Amino acid sequence: MRVFDTHCHLDDEKFNEDREEAYQRMLDAEVKCCVCVGSDLPSSQRCIDIAATHDAVFAAAGVHPHEAKDAPADYLDTLAHMLALPRVIALGEIGLDYYYDLSPRDVQKRVMAEQVELAVQLDVPVIFHIRDAHGDMVDFFRRCKQLPSGIIHCFSGSPETAREYVKMGFYISFAGPLTFKKAPHLQAAAQEVPLDRLLVETDSPYLAPEPKRGRRNEPANVVYTLNKLAELRGLPVEEMAEITWNNACALYRIPRE
Ligand code: NI
Repeated sequence: MRVFDTHCHLDDEKFNEDREEAYQRMLDAEVKCCVCVGSDLPSSQRCIDIAATHDAVFAAAGVHPHEAKDAPADYLDTLAHMLALPRVIALGEIGLDYYYDLSPRDVQKRVMAEQVELAVQLDVPVIFHIRDAHGDMVDFFRRCKQLPSGIIHCFSGSPETAREYVKMGFYISFAGPLTFKKAPHLQAAAQEVPLDRLLVETDSPYLAPEPKRGRRNEPANVVYTLNKLAELRGLPVEEMAEITWNNACALYRIPRE
Protein backbone atom coordinates (compact mmCIF):
# COMPACT_ATOMS: atom_id res chain seq x y z
CA MET A 1 0.00 0.00 0.00
CA ARG A 2 1.11 3.57 -0.57
CA VAL A 3 -0.64 6.55 1.00
CA PHE A 4 -0.35 10.24 0.11
CA ASP A 5 -0.74 12.94 2.78
CA THR A 6 -1.63 15.89 0.57
CA HIS A 7 -1.27 18.53 3.31
CA CYS A 8 0.89 18.76 6.41
CA HIS A 9 3.05 21.28 8.24
CA LEU A 10 6.19 19.32 9.10
CA ASP A 11 7.95 22.67 9.38
CA ASP A 12 5.82 23.59 12.41
CA GLU A 13 7.72 24.13 15.65
CA LYS A 14 5.67 21.32 17.22
CA PHE A 15 7.94 18.97 15.22
CA ASN A 16 11.18 20.59 16.38
CA GLU A 17 11.88 17.86 18.93
CA ASP A 18 11.21 14.84 16.73
CA ARG A 19 10.92 15.84 13.06
CA GLU A 20 13.13 13.00 11.83
CA GLU A 21 11.27 10.44 13.95
CA ALA A 22 7.91 11.69 12.65
CA TYR A 23 9.26 11.36 9.10
CA GLN A 24 10.38 7.79 9.83
CA ARG A 25 7.01 6.89 11.40
CA MET A 26 5.32 8.28 8.29
CA LEU A 27 7.38 5.97 6.03
CA ASP A 28 6.79 3.02 8.38
CA ALA A 29 3.02 3.63 8.09
CA GLU A 30 3.30 3.33 4.28
CA VAL A 31 2.69 7.05 3.87
CA LYS A 32 5.18 7.29 1.05
CA CYS A 33 4.63 10.92 0.12
CA CYS A 34 3.48 14.17 1.72
CA VAL A 35 3.33 17.84 0.85
CA CYS A 36 4.65 20.31 3.41
CA VAL A 37 2.52 23.42 2.96
CA GLY A 38 3.63 26.98 3.70
CA SER A 39 1.45 29.61 5.37
CA ASP A 40 3.70 32.66 4.92
CA LEU A 41 7.07 33.33 3.26
CA PRO A 42 9.30 32.10 6.15
CA SER A 43 7.30 28.87 6.61
CA SER A 44 7.27 28.31 2.83
CA GLN A 45 11.07 28.54 2.89
CA ARG A 46 11.22 26.04 5.78
CA CYS A 47 8.99 23.64 3.78
CA ILE A 48 11.31 24.01 0.78
CA ASP A 49 14.33 23.19 2.96
CA ILE A 50 12.62 20.08 4.37
CA ALA A 51 11.62 18.89 0.88
CA ALA A 52 15.20 19.37 -0.33
CA THR A 53 16.51 16.92 2.29
CA HIS A 54 13.68 14.34 2.48
CA ASP A 55 12.84 12.23 -0.58
CA ALA A 56 9.20 11.69 0.37
CA VAL A 57 8.40 15.36 0.99
CA PHE A 58 7.37 17.97 -1.56
CA ALA A 59 6.74 21.64 -0.76
CA ALA A 60 4.05 24.25 -1.40
CA ALA A 61 4.59 27.99 -1.02
CA GLY A 62 1.92 30.59 -0.32
CA VAL A 63 0.39 33.15 2.05
CA HIS A 64 -2.49 31.94 4.27
CA PRO A 65 -5.44 34.31 4.93
CA HIS A 66 -4.36 34.58 8.60
CA GLU A 67 -1.03 36.02 7.44
CA ALA A 68 -2.41 38.07 4.51
CA LYS A 69 -2.18 41.35 6.47
CA ASP A 70 1.58 40.88 6.94
CA ALA A 71 2.48 39.97 3.35
CA PRO A 72 5.41 42.17 2.25
CA ALA A 73 4.89 44.38 -0.81
CA ASP A 74 7.05 42.13 -3.02
CA TYR A 75 5.64 38.79 -1.78
CA LEU A 76 4.46 37.75 -5.24
CA ASP A 77 8.01 38.00 -6.62
CA THR A 78 9.31 35.85 -3.78
CA LEU A 79 6.58 33.27 -4.36
CA ALA A 80 7.31 33.18 -8.10
CA HIS A 81 10.98 32.43 -7.33
CA MET A 82 10.02 29.71 -4.87
CA LEU A 83 7.60 28.11 -7.34
CA ALA A 84 10.38 27.82 -9.90
CA LEU A 85 12.36 25.49 -7.59
CA PRO A 86 12.27 21.78 -8.48
CA ARG A 87 10.44 20.27 -5.47
CA VAL A 88 7.91 23.09 -5.03
CA ILE A 89 4.78 21.67 -6.62
CA ALA A 90 1.89 23.95 -5.62
CA LEU A 91 0.89 27.42 -4.49
CA GLY A 92 -0.63 27.34 -1.02
CA GLU A 93 -2.10 27.48 1.27
CA ILE A 94 -4.22 30.49 0.38
CA GLY A 95 -7.88 31.35 0.78
CA LEU A 96 -10.44 32.92 3.08
CA ASP A 97 -10.96 32.34 6.81
CA TYR A 98 -13.97 34.15 8.27
CA TYR A 99 -13.96 31.98 11.39
CA TYR A 100 -10.86 33.56 12.88
CA ASP A 101 -10.81 36.75 10.74
CA LEU A 102 -7.13 37.30 11.64
CA SER A 103 -6.73 39.56 8.59
CA PRO A 104 -9.39 42.06 7.44
CA ARG A 105 -11.65 40.39 4.87
CA ASP A 106 -10.82 42.82 2.06
CA VAL A 107 -7.11 42.08 2.60
CA GLN A 108 -7.79 38.32 2.64
CA LYS A 109 -9.66 38.65 -0.66
CA ARG A 110 -7.00 40.77 -2.34
CA VAL A 111 -4.06 38.57 -1.31
CA MET A 112 -5.94 35.44 -2.38
CA ALA A 113 -6.93 36.92 -5.75
CA GLU A 114 -3.36 38.05 -6.46
CA GLN A 115 -2.01 34.59 -5.71
CA VAL A 116 -4.65 32.88 -7.85
CA GLU A 117 -3.65 35.12 -10.71
CA LEU A 118 0.01 34.17 -10.20
CA ALA A 119 -0.89 30.46 -10.15
CA VAL A 120 -2.81 30.79 -13.42
CA GLN A 121 0.11 32.67 -14.99
CA LEU A 122 2.65 30.07 -13.84
CA ASP A 123 0.24 27.18 -14.43
CA VAL A 124 0.65 25.58 -10.99
CA PRO A 125 -2.04 23.93 -8.81
CA VAL A 126 -3.41 25.80 -5.78
CA ILE A 127 -4.17 24.61 -2.23
CA PHE A 128 -7.22 26.46 -0.87
CA HIS A 129 -8.03 26.95 2.81
CA ILE A 130 -11.69 28.00 3.18
CA ARG A 131 -13.36 28.34 6.55
CA ASP A 132 -16.86 29.80 7.03
CA ALA A 133 -16.41 31.56 3.68
CA HIS A 134 -17.80 29.17 1.06
CA GLY A 135 -20.30 31.73 -0.27
CA ASP A 136 -17.64 34.36 -1.03
CA MET A 137 -15.30 31.69 -2.34
CA VAL A 138 -17.80 30.29 -4.83
CA ASP A 139 -18.64 33.86 -5.93
CA PHE A 140 -14.96 34.57 -6.44
CA PHE A 141 -14.46 31.39 -8.49
CA ARG A 142 -17.50 32.24 -10.65
CA ARG A 143 -15.98 35.65 -11.44
CA CYS A 144 -12.53 34.23 -12.32
CA LYS A 145 -11.74 34.50 -16.03
CA GLN A 146 -9.63 31.40 -15.71
CA LEU A 147 -9.75 28.99 -12.78
CA PRO A 148 -6.57 27.33 -11.55
CA SER A 149 -6.49 23.60 -10.85
CA GLY A 150 -6.51 22.92 -7.15
CA ILE A 151 -7.50 21.34 -3.87
CA ILE A 152 -10.15 22.40 -1.40
CA HIS A 153 -8.07 21.37 1.62
CA CYS A 154 -9.53 20.11 4.90
CA PHE A 155 -12.99 20.32 3.39
CA SER A 156 -15.54 21.52 5.95
CA GLY A 157 -18.65 22.30 3.91
CA SER A 158 -21.90 20.60 2.99
CA PRO A 159 -22.43 17.97 0.27
CA GLU A 160 -23.93 20.76 -1.90
CA THR A 161 -20.81 22.88 -1.50
CA ALA A 162 -18.59 19.91 -2.35
CA ARG A 163 -20.64 19.35 -5.50
CA GLU A 164 -20.15 23.01 -6.48
CA TYR A 165 -16.35 22.80 -6.14
CA VAL A 166 -16.21 19.49 -8.02
CA LYS A 167 -18.16 21.07 -10.87
CA MET A 168 -15.48 23.77 -11.03
CA GLY A 169 -12.83 21.08 -11.41
CA PHE A 170 -11.40 21.04 -7.88
CA TYR A 171 -10.28 18.10 -5.79
CA ILE A 172 -11.73 17.69 -2.30
CA SER A 173 -9.36 16.72 0.50
CA PHE A 174 -10.60 15.25 3.79
CA ALA A 175 -8.71 15.53 7.09
CA GLY A 176 -9.10 14.12 10.61
CA PRO A 177 -12.60 15.54 11.29
CA LEU A 178 -13.96 12.94 8.84
CA THR A 179 -13.33 10.32 11.54
CA PHE A 180 -15.18 12.21 14.31
CA LYS A 181 -18.45 10.78 15.59
CA LYS A 182 -20.45 13.97 15.09
CA ALA A 183 -19.61 14.64 11.46
CA PRO A 184 -22.67 13.50 9.49
CA HIS A 185 -22.52 16.31 6.88
CA LEU A 186 -18.83 15.79 6.25
CA GLN A 187 -19.31 12.05 5.92
CA ALA A 188 -22.22 12.60 3.54
CA ALA A 189 -20.01 14.86 1.44
CA ALA A 190 -17.27 12.19 1.39
CA GLN A 191 -19.80 9.68 0.07
CA GLU A 192 -20.77 11.97 -2.79
CA VAL A 193 -17.51 13.31 -4.17
CA PRO A 194 -16.56 11.38 -7.33
CA LEU A 195 -13.75 8.89 -6.70
CA ASP A 196 -11.43 10.67 -9.10
CA ARG A 197 -11.67 13.89 -7.03
CA LEU A 198 -10.99 12.50 -3.53
CA LEU A 199 -7.86 13.18 -1.46
CA VAL A 200 -6.77 12.64 2.15
CA GLU A 201 -4.53 14.71 4.38
CA THR A 202 -3.54 15.27 8.00
CA ASP A 203 -3.06 19.05 8.21
CA SER A 204 -0.70 17.95 10.99
CA PRO A 205 0.20 19.06 13.63
CA TYR A 206 -3.51 20.03 13.77
CA LEU A 207 -6.74 17.99 13.61
CA ALA A 208 -5.63 14.53 14.73
CA PRO A 209 -8.15 11.86 13.65
CA GLU A 210 -9.79 9.32 15.95
CA PRO A 211 -8.32 7.50 17.86
CA LYS A 212 -5.57 10.10 18.26
CA ARG A 213 -7.93 13.04 18.64
CA GLY A 214 -6.68 15.79 20.96
CA ARG A 215 -3.01 14.87 20.52
CA ARG A 216 -0.46 16.36 18.17
CA ASN A 217 -1.14 15.05 14.69
CA GLU A 218 1.52 13.76 12.28
CA PRO A 219 1.62 12.47 8.69
CA ALA A 220 1.54 8.76 9.72
CA ASN A 221 -2.02 9.34 11.03
CA VAL A 222 -3.45 10.00 7.58
CA VAL A 223 -4.06 6.25 7.47
CA TYR A 224 -6.96 6.64 9.98
CA THR A 225 -8.69 9.15 7.72
CA LEU A 226 -8.04 6.92 4.72
CA ASN A 227 -9.61 3.97 6.57
CA LYS A 228 -12.71 6.03 7.33
CA LEU A 229 -13.00 7.16 3.74
CA ALA A 230 -12.66 3.56 2.49
CA GLU A 231 -15.36 2.46 4.95
CA LEU A 232 -17.72 5.27 3.84
CA ARG A 233 -17.22 4.31 0.19
CA GLY A 234 -17.41 0.55 0.80
CA LEU A 235 -14.01 -0.09 -0.74
CA PRO A 236 -10.95 -2.01 0.52
CA VAL A 237 -8.49 0.39 2.10
CA GLU A 238 -5.74 -0.66 -0.35
CA GLU A 239 -7.94 0.40 -3.24
CA MET A 240 -8.79 3.75 -1.62
CA ALA A 241 -5.07 4.30 -0.98
CA GLU A 242 -4.29 3.74 -4.65
CA ILE A 243 -7.17 5.96 -5.84
CA THR A 244 -6.15 8.88 -3.61
CA TRP A 245 -2.46 8.33 -4.45
CA ASN A 246 -3.15 8.58 -8.17
CA ASN A 247 -5.39 11.62 -7.68
CA ALA A 248 -2.69 13.41 -5.67
CA CYS A 249 -0.04 12.65 -8.30
CA ALA A 250 -2.33 13.88 -11.07
CA LEU A 251 -3.18 17.10 -9.28
CA TYR A 252 0.36 17.87 -8.10
CA ARG A 253 1.78 16.69 -11.42
CA ILE A 254 4.35 14.33 -10.01
CA PRO A 255 5.14 10.85 -11.40
CA ARG A 256 3.08 8.05 -9.88
CA GLU A 257 6.11 5.89 -9.08
NI1 NI B 1 -2.82 23.68 6.66
